[in-house]
Amino acid sequence: MTGISAELEMDHELERQVLTRIIKEAENGNYDADSFEEFRSGLLRHIYLEEEIVFPAVLKNSPELRGQIAGLEMEHASVAMIMGKIADEIQTGNIIKSRKYLDEIERILAVHNSVESSGVYLKIPDNISMDIHSVVIPEGWVCRKLRKSRV
Ligand SMILES: [Fe+2]
Ligand SMILES: [Fe+2]
Repeated sequence: MTGISAELEMDHELERQVLTRIIKEAENGNYDADSFEEFRSGLLRHIYLEEEIVFPAVLKNSPELRGQIAGLEMEHASVAMIMGKIADEIQTGNIIKSRKYLDEIERILAVHNSVESSGVYLKIPDNISMDIHSVVIPEGWVCRKLRKSRV
């Protein structure tokens, strides 16, 4: 595996490690706003790249993956919503469900990432390359499945 799919795989692993660290802290009752923001912004950037660049490129050559991609986008929306709820709790200092939410994200991503690895990532055209970590999400961007008028 080379190019963008390898970069995306490494990003999955990086995010997984950051999440594991956050969960470990949460088990001790510690919620650090900066660590969580590192996780959330990294994952949103990953989702942005997939939904705006990777998935459309895959769909051009592999329209049969439309169903899989729709499912992946629903999971992006779920994870993004749950991350918003955790961020709200951390910001207000009123932690009620964050511990449960973190496990939920971990569970969703474990399946989600393996579906991508064995599915859509194998169909990414060779001509796509980018430096994931230099990508900046446009102001106001939201996941496709969270938009009022779906594109
Ligand atoms: Fe994804
Ligand atoms: Fe991914």
